[in-house]
Formats: sequence, structure tokens, C-alpha cells
Amino acid sequence: ALPRDLEGRRVVVSAGGTAEPLDPVRTLGNRSSGRQGYALARVAAQRGAHVTLVAGSTADLAPPAAVDLVRVRTTEEMRTAVLDAGKGAEVVVMAAAVADFRPLDVAGFKIKKTDAEPEAIRLTRNPDILRELVAEQVPGRLVVGFAAETGDAEHDVLSFGRAKLARKGCDLLVVNAVGAGGDGRHSAFEGSDNEGWLLGADGSSTPLPMGSKAALAARVWDAVGARLS
Ligand code: PMT
Repeated sequence: ALPRDLEGRRVVVSAGGTAEPLDPVRTLGNRSSGRQGYALARVAAQRGAHVTLVAGSTADLAPPAAVDLVRVRTTEEMRTAVLDAGKGAEVVVMAAAVADFRPLDVAGFKIKKTDAEPEAIRLTRNPDILRELVAEQVPGRLVVGFAAETGDAEHDVLSFGRAKLARKGCDLLVVNAVGAGGDGRHSAFEGSDNEGWLLGADGSSTPLPMGSKAALAARVWDAVGARLS
């Protein structure tokens, strides 16, 4: 039987990618099937939590049972939904792949293809939702980030993760290796399995062995549950 250690806890999980319009038909966005975020939401609900799942673009996934699903498109929409739901929550997990930039100018009409060289797209910075959550400093609320890092022998995914945890200031950070060099061996994106490390602001680091996204979710909630008072 599943533990009921999250009974009555209010949690928010973000999933999927955000997409920023360039014109009415084109977007600039991030890869994400939403599978990892959906698994986190499903497992939390099974363990007794009240879950709000804020989902951007995802693969065609069945919504988890007994979860409030809020669909969003842009980073700004995800920001509003996550910060709103996060107000009454004890845990916020940002598994979404959030677009860091958006086109500065959004055309009102479809940009025409001509024989001329296409124009460069000017970008502007999007808000960082995770950092805003941390900056709110809600007492007793845990904030969990995710980091998809590419690494190889010289570029150690773990040290990228450590640096990101320090920069973002969250309580826990899940680092998933997304496989550099295009060897196609493994990617956290889109597939049904994932692996990585769970880093704590206290300096702890726990390997998350290769397994289903649901299994990884269970380990994340174990760590969160142990930290909830
Ligand atoms: O959806 P799947 O196909 O199952 O794949 C899952 C996943 C690989 C997308 C997921 O496990 C994951 O790692 N998500 C984070 C992807 C990422 O690279 O994040 P990041 O390094 O750009 O951002 C770090 C953290 O800050 C994340 O928690 C992100 O949600 C958050 N962030 C980032 C930018 C921004 N503007 N606002 C944010 O809140």
C-alpha cells in the first residue's frame, strides 16, 4: 500500500513546456512531454495530497485522477497560476520546462514567408517563477526545482546542479541528466523513465536511480514528506 504521508497537504506541481507566441500561428517553446510533472501530481494525490497541477504544453496525457488541472500556455500564464495556487500550499514543485525568453514583438498577423532573408527575432527575458516563489519566503513552504542538464566527462551534471540550487535558492533540486552529444542513449525528455540526483539546500545529495517517472516522483515525495513538519 502507498504511504499516506501527504494526507491533507496542499501541493502545487507544474508540468510541460511554456510556449511564447511569435505571431498567431507560431510559438517559441521548450521541450517537455509533461510526463514527469504528471507523475509527481498523480503520486502526490495517491498519497493523500490536494494537488493543483499547472500544465503547459504536453503530450496527449490522461489527466491524473483527483487533481485540479489548470492549463496554461505562456510563462506569464504559468506564473500567475503557480503563484496563485502556491499561496495556500505547503509544497510547490516546478517540473515544468519554462521558456526563459519570449519574442519582444508579437505580430498581430501571420509573418509572411518571402524571398528576402528572414528577420532576426529579438527576445526579452521572462520572469523566473522558481526564484519568485523562493523570494516570497513563505514560512514552512517547501520549494522544489528541477534542472535538466547536459553533461559529459568534463561537464559534470552534478556540479551544474549544485550551482543552480545555490542560484535559485530552493529547498530541493532534482537534477536530471538529459544526455549530451546526441548519442540517443537516454533522455529525461519525453520518455517514460528518468534518473538523476536529488540535491538538498542542506548539502545532501541522493542518487535517483534509473526507473519510471512515477518511481522518481515517489522518491521526491519521500524527501519532501521527511522535511514537512
Ligand atoms: O516533461 P518530461 O518530458 O517528462 O520531461 C521532464 C523534464 C526533463 C522537463 C523535467 O524533469 C525537468 O527537468 N524540468 C526542468 C527543465 C529545466 O531545464 O529547467 P531549467 O534549468 O530551465 O530551470 C530550472 C528550474 O527553474 C525548473 O524548476 C524550472 O521549472 C524553473 N524555471 C525556469 C525558468 C523560468 N523562467 N522560471 C522557472 O520557474
